[in-house]
Amino acid sequence: HSAKQIVQVVSNGERVLTGNAMKNVSTLESDDVNKGYSIIVDHKGKIVDLGRDDEICAKYKKEQFEKTLDATGCSVIPGFVDGHTHPVWVGDRVHEFAMKLAGATYMEVHRAGGGIMFTVDRVRRASVDELYTSLKQYAMKMLRCGSTFAEMKSGYGLDAENEIKMLQVINRLIKDEEVPLGVSVTYCGAHAVPKGSTAAEATEDVISNQLPQIKALMDSGDLNVDNIDVFCEQGVFDVDQTKRILEAGVEAGLAINFHGEELHQLNSAEMGAEMKARAISHLEEISDEGITAMAKSGSVGVVLPTTAYILRLSPPPVRKMIEGGMAVALGSDFNPNAHCFSMPLVVHLACVTMHMSMNEALVAATLNAASSLGQSDRIGSLEVGKQADLLVLNSARWEHIVYQFGSHADVIREVIKDGKIV
Ligand code: NIG
Ligand code: FE
Repeated sequence: HSAKQIVQVVSNGERVLTGNAMKNVSTLESDDVNKGYSIIVDHKGKIVDLGRDDEICAKYKKEQFEKTLDATGCSVIPGFVDGHTHPVWVGDRVHEFAMKLAGATYMEVHRAGGGIMFTVDRVRRASVDELYTSLKQYAMKMLRCGSTFAEMKSGYGLDAENEIKMLQVINRLIKDEEVPLGVSVTYCGAHAVPKGSTAAEATEDVISNQLPQIKALMDSGDLNVDNIDVFCEQGVFDVDQTKRILEAGVEAGLAINFHGEELHQLNSAEMGAEMKARAISHLEEISDEGITAMAKSGSVGVVLPTTAYILRLSPPPVRKMIEGGMAVALGSDFNPNAHCFSMPLVVHLACVTMHMSMNEALVAATLNAASSLGQSDRIGSLEVGKQADLLVLNSARWEHIVYQFGSHADVIREVIKDGKIV
């Protein structure tokens, strides 16, 4: 691929970038219109070389390349990594959007039996095929928006049978070669308290019933699951219950990646940091102590600009997080409440509403999001040895992907996953 400019998230061997290093985006920008840069990709879809056209031409013979893609005048950035999604569902909640616009809060809708509970009802009644058809469509749309890897949660089943059904649907996507989106699988059986139970009973069911069944399927090679998640929130699961569920998840071999400090400050960030959580999402209400604790533990803060935007909440204190040395990543939070899977829009919102610079947002939406999923040795930046997951942009200045909000389709020319055009 030959492009005028290649935008590198410069990791210097680090798997996650914090503080000032989040500005580490270097653009290999050609001063001469006739000279650009090339990326060489092998048969396995790995980047084997990357550099100036003249250097590459001197090193390799043209005949060595099976295929070339001319990207004159374009720029190339790493594919987006979406650090947080709830994409397995049927039945939208557009009626609730109207209620929320009229002033109802997220928890008011939830307590009235709507919100997550509305989607649980629809998902329990849906077959694996119905859920899969829906997920596959969303996954293709995510790819077209430039996401080459995404975290995907269960959490609309809330019992063993339906949680396993959701995890199987996500697993089927991984096996489906038609959808080349990379996926990290998260079990979120503790996403809400099911009707007719208490939080204490639901905690017991997750720990003693759901998790052992999931673990058995993982052990027999029938199910892939990577992370454990809990919605730690006032009126949902408290900090103690969350901690016990996360411990049981770790016991089952899962990485900690949970929802914390979204609507109320419960000091779940401190708890998560103490458990060396790989990632904690949301953090709108994180305390200064929570920031210090997460910076120290190296837990990645996955911030979700769509949530605060759609619910008219204050966004998380991202400047304080970055200046406090925390690793910050981005996710779309795609779900029936925040119906957005567009990482270009997410980075735009991150810059405008959370005061991130475009460089910081790019790092957060690529390398740091990869790190929040334990994948940053493989993906998240354009480096020799990593997977060739990249976006060819229709503009010589990569910032257009952030700047032209709402029209990413005009900016993304090609999405390339493992070296292949999607
Ligand atoms: O991350 N806060 C909890 N879970 C989701 C919302 C899920 C839903 O409303 O369906 C979130 O915003
Ligand atoms: Fe979420």
